[in-house]
Amino acid sequence: MSKNVEILVKRQDSPKAPSYWVEFSVPYEEGMNVISLLQGIRRDPKDKSGKSVTPVTWESSCLEEVCGACTMVINGKVRQACTALVDQLEQPIKLEPMSKFPVERDLRVNRQRIFDNLKKVNAWVEVDGYHDLGPGPRQNPDDQTTTYKYSECMSCGCCMEVCPQFTKDNDFIGAAVLGQARLFNMHPTGEMQMPKRLDKVTDKGGIQDCGLAQQCVKACPKHIPLVEAIGQLQRDITVNKVFGSLKK
Ligand code: SF4
Ligand code: SF4
Ligand code: FES
Repeated sequence: MSKNVEILVKRQDSPKAPSYWVEFSVPYEEGMNVISLLQGIRRDPKDKSGKSVTPVTWESSCLEEVCGACTMVINGKVRQACTALVDQLEQPIKLEPMSKFPVERDLRVNRQRIFDNLKKVNAWVEVDGYHDLGPGPRQNPDDQTTTYKYSECMSCGCCMEVCPQFTKDNDFIGAAVLGQARLFNMHPTGEMQMPKRLDKVTDKGGIQDCGLAQQCVKACPKHIPLVEAIGQLQRDITVNKVFGSLKK
């Protein structure tokens, strides 16, 4: 007799609808991950009792932990579904959408808040016209190593899901956005916008709302030094305030 994988999915039919749990049983295949389980449900959308149901909705793209789209809560831990291997998970495997972002349907959430907050803190390098300005300023190799780590952020939301200060109803911008502010402050061209960026970082919902509980850094699948970024931003804010007031 073929082996099956037992799954419990927290479902929600639309953003305002109530959530409910559905049990599924999917034929086991070697090397399966959570995405292949969801694909199994989609191929034959029936619950464990054999009743036809609508296929489960989820989001994924790269399938190699780079895009962050498949982030969900698996057996109580926020992580990427594409790198969650069935053989390493206790059954029934419990799948839930992240709780800090609005659910659109089933396991798919709307992470627009992250992208809006990235815009809020100028998390980009300004373009100074489109004419050829020659090579940009050089960055020393040590800074390149540090910024490379920050650049691995995939806006997955894990750090916000575990953060006690980041809730659905407040404005806190969250650890990932603070990490990206640090990244662009370190960039030789991005640094030119640093005073403006630091002002945005201290706006309503900014860095002052971080309680330094450090849960974010433990949850980050890319091991981004978020607490270091927060500490350095705080030091930069102080320096910016002192020099800003001296200039006045
Ligand atoms: S240090 Fe704590 S409060 Fe600050 S962003 Fe990280 S988890 Fe949230
Ligand atoms: S900092 Fe880490 S946990 Fe937070 S969004 Fe970026 S990759 Fe995800
Ligand atoms: S599908 Fe891109 S991180 Fe999982």
